[in-house]
Formats: sequence, C-alpha cells, structure tokens
Amino acid sequence: MATPSMEDYIEQIYLHIEGKGVARVSDVAESLAVLPSSVTKMAQRLHREGYVIYERYKGLALTDRGYNFGKRLVKRHELLEQFLRIIGVDEVNIYGDVEGIEHHLSWNAMDRITALVEAMEQDKEFVKKLNSDQ
Ligand code: FE2
Repeated sequence: MATPSMEDYIEQIYLHIEGKGVARVSDVAESLAVLPSSVTKMAQRLHREGYVIYERYKGLALTDRGYNFGKRLVKRHELLEQFLRIIGVDEVNIYGDVEGIEHHLSWNAMDRITALVEAMEQDKEFVKKLNSDQ
C-alpha cells in the first residue's frame, strides 16, 4: 500500500515525466516544497517498492507499475478538481483542497464521486440551482 506521501511523490514524478520527459530530484523537491535529500530518500524507498527506477545522478524514471499508478493518481486529482469546481468551490481553494483530501478517499468513494460528477454534468439545471446562492 502506498502511503499519502508516496502518492504525492509518484504523482509529481509522473507529472514531470509527462510534462518534459524527465523528473529530476530538484524538480520534484521544488514541486513538493521539500529538500532534495527528502526526495532522494523517498526515491530509494519507491525504488525498493517497485515504483521508481532510481540511479544516483540521473533523473527519476517510473517502472510500468509506477507509471500506471501515477496516471491513476493524476486522474483522481483532476476528477476531484472537477468535482469541487462544479459544486461551486472558489477557484483559489481548489488545488489546495484536492491536495488535502485526495489521499484519504477510497477508490470506492472516487467511483461514486465520478458518477456524481457525470450526473451533474448531465443536469445543468441542478448545477445552476446548486450554485444560485453565491
Ligand atoms: Fe494531487
């Protein structure tokens, strides 16, 4: 089982690799606002657990397992952003709120939130009514 912190690292490594083909220790440290030494330590752990290919002085790469998991984490993040946006949460709060809750929901809850977002997207009137108080 990946811990919330492991999920954060895998998510960020995935985003850097997708965005520019490489995830350097310094990139990941910057996006998570942690020290490079923390990234190195976590990279070794993720390497042992089969998510990351870590070679000192080279960037971080993802194994197939790490890549697939990263993709799933990013999808979950995006879906939760969509959920908060559609229910009318202020834009300024969305990213931080998602980072706060995303690691603490079961995949079962995610499936139901996904169904809810889809239902709300089909029902513009409902969304309008929901957001009419603000
Ligand atoms: Fe996230």
